[in-house]
Amino acid sequence: MSQSTIWSHKGTFLLAAVGSAVGLGNLWRFPYLAGENGGGAFILVYALTIAAVGIPILIAETLLGRASRKSPIMGMKELISSNNSHSSWKMIGWMGALAAFIILSFYSVIAGWAIHYTGLMFSGSLAGATAEEISTGFDALLASPSLLILYHSLFLGVSVIIVGMGVHKGIENGLRFMMPALFIILLIVFVYAAIEGDLAASLSFLFTFNLDDLSLQGWLDAMGQSFFTLSLGMGAIMAYGAYMSPEASLTRTAISIAIVDTLVALVAGVAIFALVFGQGLEAGQGPGLMFVTLPLAFADLPGGSLLGGVFFILVIGAALTSAISLVEPVAGYFIERFKISRPKAVILMGLGCWLLGLLTVFSFNIWSTESFTHDLFGKNPFDTLEFMTNVMMPLGGVLIALYVGCPLKNELVAQQMAT
Ligand code: PFF
Repeated sequence: MSQSTIWSHKGTFLLAAVGSAVGLGNLWRFPYLAGENGGGAFILVYALTIAAVGIPILIAETLLGRASRKSPIMGMKELISSNNSHSSWKMIGWMGALAAFIILSFYSVIAGWAIHYTGLMFSGSLAGATAEEISTGFDALLASPSLLILYHSLFLGVSVIIVGMGVHKGIENGLRFMMPALFIILLIVFVYAAIEGDLAASLSFLFTFNLDDLSLQGWLDAMGQSFFTLSLGMGAIMAYGAYMSPEASLTRTAISIAIVDTLVALVAGVAIFALVFGQGLEAGQGPGLMFVTLPLAFADLPGGSLLGGVFFILVIGAALTSAISLVEPVAGYFIERFKISRPKAVILMGLGCWLLGLLTVFSFNIWSTESFTHDLFGKNPFDTLEFMTNVMMPLGGVLIALYVGCPLKNELVAQQMAT
C-alpha cells in the first residue's frame, strides 16, 4: 500500500465498505440469532446499537484510515507520532489486525459450507429429502475434515488471489462486478420467498417488538452482532478508509453503509423466515438454520433446488467480499513494514490463516467433545477463537472512539469531518 493509493472513484469506499459489511453476518448469523432470541425484540436492540454506537465508530474508524493513509498497524504508528499520543494506542492497530486474522480463519471454514450446499442444491440431490436426511447430511459434512479443508482452501485461495491482484485490479474490479450481482440475487430470492413462503408470519415474527422475549444473552448477542455486521474494530474499515477519496463525506458514507447493511439483513431475514414458516419449520434452530432448516424448506418447494443453489451463491459471494476486507489489513502491514510485494504478502497472510483455520475445521470433528447436534457452540477451539474476537471487536471499537475523541488533534478531526 503506497501513500498514493486511492480508490478510483469517490463512491468506491462506500461500495467496498458495504462489501465488507454484508456477509455471513447478514445472511447466516443475523437470521439465526434473531430466530433464537424472539425475532422483533432482538432486532430492536440490534438496530438501536447500530444507530447509537455503530455509526459513530464507523465514522471514527474510517477517519483513522483516511487520516493516516496506511494499513491499521502502520497507520496508528504514524498518527501516534504526528499527534504525540501515548504509544499504547498502537494497540488499536495490532488488535485490529489480529482480530481480522482470526476472524478470517473461521469465516473461511463456514463460507466453505456454503460451497458444499451450492453443489448439493444445484445437483437436485436434496429435492424431497426428509428432515432426518438433511440433518444427517450436515453432520456428515462437519464430520469430514478433508471436505472442510478442501472448501476452506478453495474459499481462502480465491479471497487471497483477489487481494493479491491489487487494490484496483483485484479488490475494486471484483467488487464492481460482485456487489450488483449480489443485490440482484437477493431480490430474486426475496421475491421467490414472498411467493412461495409465508410472508405474513415472517414479518410478524421479525417486527413484533416484545422486549420481554429478550434474555441478557440476547441483548449481548444483539450488540455483538451490530459490531460484527458493520465490520467494526477489526482494521478492515480502517484499511479501506486509507484509500478513501478526500472528497467523500465520512458521516454520509457511514450512515449509508449502516442503512444498506441493515436492509440486507432484514430482507434476507424476511425471506429466510418466510420460507421456513411456509414449510411449517421452527425459527430457533441456531447455526443450523441456514444449513439444515433452509435446505429443508427448499427441498419441498417448486424450483427449490435451483433457487436454493442461487441462494447459496449469494452466501458465497457476500462472504467473499467480506473476506477480502479481512485479508487487506494484514497484507497491507506486510507490504509496508517488510517492503515485500503484494502477492508475497497475501500468500503469507493466506498461509497463516489457512493453518489457523484448521483449528476450526477440527473443532467440528476430531476435537469436538460432544456428539453432533446443531448446537455447534460447545467448548472447542473454534468457540475460543470466536469468543476472543467477540471481546476484541467492542474493545477495539471503544478504543477507536476514545482515540479519535481525545488524543487525536482537533484540527485533524475537524479537517476530516469537513467533507
Ligand atoms: N461484516 C461481515 C459480516 O457481516 O459477515 C463480517 C466481517 C467482515 C467482520 C470484516 C469483520 C470484518 F473486519
